[in-house]
Amino acid sequence: MQERLALLKKQVLAEIAAAKTPAELERLRVRYMGRKAGELTLVLRSLKGLSEEERRSVGQAANALKDELIEVLQKRRTQLETGSANEAIDLTLPGRKRFVGYRHPITLVTDRIVEIFAGMGFEEILGPEIETDWYNFEALNIPKGHPARGEMFGNFYLPGGLLLRSHTSPVQIRVMENMPPPVRVIAPGRVYRRDAFDSSHSPVFYQVEGLYVDEGVSFADLKGTLEVFSQEMFGSDIGVRFSPSYFPFTEPSAELSISCVICGGAGCKVCAHTGWVEILGCGMVHPQVLRNVGYDPDKVTGFAFGMGVERIAMIHYRIDDIRHFYSNDLRFLRQFRET
Ligand code: PHE
Repeated sequence: MQERLALLKKQVLAEIAAAKTPAELERLRVRYMGRKAGELTLVLRSLKGLSEEERRSVGQAANALKDELIEVLQKRRTQLETGSANEAIDLTLPGRKRFVGYRHPITLVTDRIVEIFAGMGFEEILGPEIETDWYNFEALNIPKGHPARGEMFGNFYLPGGLLLRSHTSPVQIRVMENMPPPVRVIAPGRVYRRDAFDSSHSPVFYQVEGLYVDEGVSFADLKGTLEVFSQEMFGSDIGVRFSPSYFPFTEPSAELSISCVICGGAGCKVCAHTGWVEILGCGMVHPQVLRNVGYDPDKVTGFAFGMGVERIAMIHYRIDDIRHFYSNDLRFLRQFRET
């Protein structure tokens, strides 16, 4: 009898462990411990024909087995219900690292640029990416037929005379139209040009625009502000150089170059052996632009500048292909946890 119980125990335990659903467990319970025809129940019932002594020992063993089986069944049921079945836990395994996202390098650099200018009193503002002809061109002193419309930008036009802005300069107009001087703003954002997608161009890229208009703002203020920016961004020993340029909305206009961060000015491939790398366009706000927004150019003057964020980021991080920024390759992106 004892042997029969031991065998039964082995069999039932194996079947409980193999059960895949609570319903299967229930069938096992009925089969072995059911009141009417459960195998264990039958064993207990058959005790009648045994001797007193045997009855006691077998009875005890059978009852103990029944209790044990009920407990094992219950455990297995919880396992199945919580989904922790069959999962051997290896406490020596290292924990799984959760992937934590971080800011994109372009966002990091944009934030850094805005932060530097915020430290000089510039307030961050945003403008729309879909613009009208007035804001993108006319008000900026780029009338219809002006060569700058065709020469400088290939544009993405939309129905209804709208277009995707080709620079962040329209934000200058929006700000000045909406508030009297003094204004001192910094405007980051996405811009669009019909450029080929190659190692240094993208049809969609980011710019940061700056504008400062007040009484008595001079070219010296422009130079000082942008020199401080360059040193904050690239290091205090960076060299800066302003050279004459042309933009319809500034007069005089200039380009700002910094000494090449790769070769320190000695000349290399990145700076085309000139020792200098151009980083932004700038100038004194054209009197006609001030007039267009209702400001009096005899009372106030100002300077403006615009820079490409990808370009700044490429110099800052020594990246040689703009396309890396848009590839979403995690091997690239994971390198930029800090600025
Ligand atoms: N908007 C010009 C560009 O996109 C840059 C610029 C801004 C130049 C402000 C002068 C003043 O190229």
